[in-house]
Amino acid sequence: MPTQHSRIRTFEEYTDAYKRSVENPEQFWADVAEPFTWRRKWDTVVKADLVGGHNEWFSGAKLNITENCLDRHLATRGNKLALIWEPNDPKTRQIRYTYRELHQEVCRFANVLHNNGVEKGDRVCIYMPMIPQLAIAVLACARIGAVHSVVFAGFSATAIADRVNDAQATTVLTSDGLNRGARQIPVKRVVDEALETCPSVRRVIVVEHLGWPVHMEEGRDVWYHEEALEAEKSCPAEEMDAEDMLFILYTSGSTGKPKGVVHTQAGYMVWADYTFRNVFQVQENDIYWCTADIGWVTGHSYLLYGPLLSGASTLMFEGVPTYPSAGRFWEVIDKHGVNIFYTAPTAIRSLMATPLDNVLSYSLDSLRILGTVGEPINVEAWDWYHTHVGKERCPIVDTWWQTETGGIMISALGSISPLKPAHAGQPLPGVQPVLLTQEGKEIEGNEEEGYLAIKYPWPGMIRTTYGDHERCRQTYFGAYPGYYFTGDGARRDKDGLYRIIGRVDDVINVSGHRFGTAEIENAINENAYVVESAVVGYPHDVKGQGIYAFVICGEPVKPNQLSHVEASIIETVVAEIGKIAKPDKIQIVSGLPKTRSGKIMRRILRKVAEGEISNLGDTTTLLDPGIVEEIIAGKK
Ligand code: WT7
Repeated sequence: MPTQHSRIRTFEEYTDAYKRSVENPEQFWADVAEPFTWRRKWDTVVKADLVGGHNEWFSGAKLNITENCLDRHLATRGNKLALIWEPNDPKTRQIRYTYRELHQEVCRFANVLHNNGVEKGDRVCIYMPMIPQLAIAVLACARIGAVHSVVFAGFSATAIADRVNDAQATTVLTSDGLNRGARQIPVKRVVDEALETCPSVRRVIVVEHLGWPVHMEEGRDVWYHEEALEAEKSCPAEEMDAEDMLFILYTSGSTGKPKGVVHTQAGYMVWADYTFRNVFQVQENDIYWCTADIGWVTGHSYLLYGPLLSGASTLMFEGVPTYPSAGRFWEVIDKHGVNIFYTAPTAIRSLMATPLDNVLSYSLDSLRILGTVGEPINVEAWDWYHTHVGKERCPIVDTWWQTETGGIMISALGSISPLKPAHAGQPLPGVQPVLLTQEGKEIEGNEEEGYLAIKYPWPGMIRTTYGDHERCRQTYFGAYPGYYFTGDGARRDKDGLYRIIGRVDDVINVSGHRFGTAEIENAINENAYVVESAVVGYPHDVKGQGIYAFVICGEPVKPNQLSHVEASIIETVVAEIGKIAKPDKIQIVSGLPKTRSGKIMRRILRKVAEGEISNLGDTTTLLDPGIVEEIIAGKK
């Protein structure tokens, strides 16, 4: 492999690499970056600014990430499988692309974009199902220097419109429809609805997938397959600056509006490749499968960019874990001989709840390494995954990271690091985590708990939030100047392994998806019955956290209207955000516990939702203590 020397093979090598990365980050990252294809090398390895949040990596360098994902491999891996696509319905045809074929498809798509007026720097919103053209479209944007902003194809029209407008996208890439298990969804219709309020969009390119008739807006919409007929097969890669934008990905924070996390070219590339090859200890002939959707950062870094940069064979799955049966994941692993499998704890927990035969009837012999991501994994789920999927033979890498970190930050490296259930483990080389007190003092020593922060930049870190750097500075660098603040709480055990406890801000993690409580409240408040609401997370067996909404309605709700009002509120949330943000529990209340200054005491609501009512803490600052009694009495 071209970047072989940056591959860690033993625990001693890890310790050595870690030490070098801290003592001399410039030299360390220059060595890691050396073997990539650069049109021009960098002037400076890193410009660090953990106060203003203006961090840069490899400034002055020129490159194109797709030359590193594709062209670079053609000589040695041209006929190697790059992308394997497994359809929703196992009876339909899988599709496989070698590196040479993928290269050609990306070039063709890139030319279609060019022919449709997309230029370097333009923002392109991609709202597509998990089909090969989604992966190809993302790379095609990168090929011509357009900025991709992938929106998960489960988000609502309103959510698309918010993201398109924030990014001022000129172009939307979509498909006629999508398959999700037994259901089919008219994706293009959702886009049409969204675009009623998106004046920046000039062109919509539609990929045919289900063969459904769709409305094509004259002068705006074109079919991909028609455009592709006229497109040239070769497409030179645009030369990009190291710090040019590569993509925007929207994610929720503790305030209402999702923010566009910006990643740039060179640092993201080096980080995605380095973390992928080392965490998963990838070997040349491995088949690697990450079950995440490309609509999330995990799909960006570890379905697409990381594996292709490393020259690996990556599997992309259109369907869901339970279709046509709850054995589907394991069937796919046997069918394709998957060696490395990366999924979310919520998927494991949902499959654990089904008969054990679903997994025991597959051999799973090909598996060597397992991974999890997105939320803390509980010990029961870890044990089940380890015993029944990994057959006690495969290490589980519990990878902690965030949309903002671009790639994995704390994790074991395959089987070479110590493993401890429910612990992410040790930081990757280049990552300098600290635990802070609430006041921002570093906590020394082990067996300690605190706010997780990072005290030195790493190549894949967030560069800005699109169109609003001040928001980025405040959120990530303002809380504790000199540190990147993660928003997570963590514990360091006696051996220095990190365990992530969960968010310490108003962000909840539902099935590995992030939502701000304010974001869901804003959606609920759009409902005509509602005057005010407060949302908190509570422990949920499958989802990790469930969404509990306390809602005040304008008129008293009679018992026989209750289910109608609840259904109406759910409908509003689905329209504003999408099905993934549906509240699990809605409790209509006559008031909310507020301080005399009018601030909602979420701490109390959280306790009620968790069922910990014997221990509500100090309630003396409440304006109306009686309201708490009422809420407890009505708890769902
Ligand atoms: C938040 C980031 C990272 C890609 C998927 C989610 C939580 C993530 C773990 C883990 C415990 C985890 C954190 C983090 N999280 N991985 N291995 N153990 N918690 O990305 O949507 O940006 O969410 O997910 O709370 O802050 P995201």
